[in-house]
Amino acid sequence: MNSFQMVRGRLMAESVAVKSLASRYGTPLYVYSRSHIEGQYAALTRAMAPVKPLICYSVKVNTNAAVIGTLAELGAGADVVSGGELYRARRAGVPPSRIAFAGVGKTREEIEYALRAGLLFFTVESEPELDRIAECARRLGRKARIALRANPDVDPETHHYISTGKKENKFGLDLRRIERAYRRAAAHSSLEIAGLHMHIGSQILNPAPFAHALERVAGLCRRLRARYPTFRYLDIGGGLGIQYKPGQHPLDPARFAKVVLPFMKEWGLSVVLEPGRFLVGNAGILVTRVQYVKNGPSKKFVIVDAGMNDLIRPPLYQAHHEIVPVRATRGKIVGDVVGPICESADFLAQDRQLPSVREGDLLAVLSAGAYGFAMASNYNSRGRPAEVLVHGRRHALIRRRETREDLVRGEQRLPWR
Ligand SMILES: Cc1ncc(COP(=O)(O)O)c(C=O)c1O
Repeated sequence: MNSFQMVRGRLMAESVAVKSLASRYGTPLYVYSRSHIEGQYAALTRAMAPVKPLICYSVKVNTNAAVIGTLAELGAGADVVSGGELYRARRAGVPPSRIAFAGVGKTREEIEYALRAGLLFFTVESEPELDRIAECARRLGRKARIALRANPDVDPETHHYISTGKKENKFGLDLRRIERAYRRAAAHSSLEIAGLHMHIGSQILNPAPFAHALERVAGLCRRLRARYPTFRYLDIGGGLGIQYKPGQHPLDPARFAKVVLPFMKEWGLSVVLEPGRFLVGNAGILVTRVQYVKNGPSKKFVIVDAGMNDLIRPPLYQAHHEIVPVRATRGKIVGDVVGPICESADFLAQDRQLPSVREGDLLAVLSAGAYGFAMASNYNSRGRPAEVLVHGRRHALIRRRETREDLVRGEQRLPWR
């Protein structure tokens, strides 16, 4: 499904003209489609229906309360990786009993905050972390539910920065050591062994790595279920890939389900999924306005008002984002789309065939709903963009554009001269 379509030469976000959103809210502007989020959630729920999974939306991907809240309304839980994300998820209406807390570096303060909230479980990434969670739970007189994160050492065939289930990655526990870690967990009376967790990487387009990972943990799951009566969750993380380029095949939820369901049905565990990009990646675009077209000695630069501080994926992951005109034009040019940041890494596209544009024209950077605004920064003292959610003909500002005052909020004058 595509909620951003060209209709009679105008780019529409559902039933709203993107041009009108840019005029109303300014640029750069993130625009999200609620229908797209609903469609993706429904497609995954349908494909996985035989095991009735709990879909914990990975909050890191797009942290806006309206986005988290939309998914919470649909019945999603949340996957969080910090106290801040836990705060956001709860504030957006996700019940704590549907929140899983992952991440390799949880502090005592974060663990205690989560224990007080009462979560589904902590995903535990190391033995020292296990001991720390046990100690915090003991001190608070609570029982912490835990799922150890297995590192199955499989290649998810994705960019090396977003591969997380290989032995050289910092995530999870090696399969040779994980049973020892479960025994260590069982020895702590303040811990309850709730399940097993994995997350092998992101933007995975081929279902085979999921099958390999499940094959690797099959024996382990059976033994754990037999040994620990409280062991009942299998959380296989997120990672389902989406289409960024024309001709690229996204990971169809039905293909994914066909591969993972046989394992899950056999093991009889409660299934948890943690998709992020799949739910919101193609639900968002970044609208930007051309400031200058500069003819360099060797190439043309289309200089726009969105930079790497607004969308860092192209320089960080060499990610491809389609860029389309908001109003169709006839001619084509070839060049780089660059922002105003003082870095040569500040590009949204390089050596790309683009619509022929002039100063003042609007462009839309597609597939920007995941790891877009969430990774935005104030570098070069630029306020972060506004965010808008569209639903049918309606649209609403869900985060106002940051002002210059926002940039210095929290800074303090020195107490001495
Ligand atoms: C533990 C965990 N779960 C889920 C996700 C979401 O991944 P994706 O957006 O690829 O679905 C991530 C992403 O880093 C993660 O670290």
